[in-house]
Amino acid sequence: MIINFKAYSEAEGARALEIAKLCEQISEENGVKISVCPPMVELSAVAKAVKIPVLSQNVDPHAPGSSTGWVTPSMVRSAGAVGTLINHTEHKVSIDTIEECLELSKGCELVTVVCADTVQAAVKIAHHCPDFIAVEPPDLIGGDISVTSANPQIVESTVESVKSVNGAVSVLCGAGVKTGMDVKTALDLGADGVLLASGVIKAKDQRATLQDLVKYL
Ligand code: G3P
Repeated sequence: MIINFKAYSEAEGARALEIAKLCEQISEENGVKISVCPPMVELSAVAKAVKIPVLSQNVDPHAPGSSTGWVTPSMVRSAGAVGTLINHTEHKVSIDTIEECLELSKGCELVTVVCADTVQAAVKIAHHCPDFIAVEPPDLIGGDISVTSANPQIVESTVESVKSVNGAVSVLCGAGVKTGMDVKTALDLGADGVLLASGVIKAKDQRATLQDLVKYL
């Protein structure tokens, strides 16, 4: 399970650390793998504070050197993160940029989670061998209906199509995932895990929400 903090105000500054530590507690108490994607500016602080995997929300296709304002895979690795999202639907890039980011990220031994908004996009990305592909229909992101209920077919089709291209790629799904039943359904549909954000970050009781999310795992 990957919790994307996005740019939510609820996850700014010290609150990013608090949420990451809560995710670590729930992960340890339940023996469930939870990874976190804090805001870029909190990456190093969060990576130093928790033992669970910390991922960057994005990387740019740049190697170390004379460039300004970019976030290189090398920086992300040096900050203590172990992986990165690439091509999130809220930060989309071209397939060429995806390929460049994958190559540079692999060179820094970062785990790569490439997001796809359709089955077709997922298949194209699978040829470039990311570690994970996360399929998320943009229209369901941030909503109250889970992709596993609103569009289970996209999850099943993405799993089947990606595995037919490259069996080594693990498939996640996301968008509207809010409950333990959503997570269970995702796994029943063949996904290896879920990617979610608002269900946790904007929850009134983040602990109770996390406890519910892992209860069928
Ligand atoms: O990165 C996961 C995100 O796009 C899903 O958002 O709020 O629907 O869980 P949300």
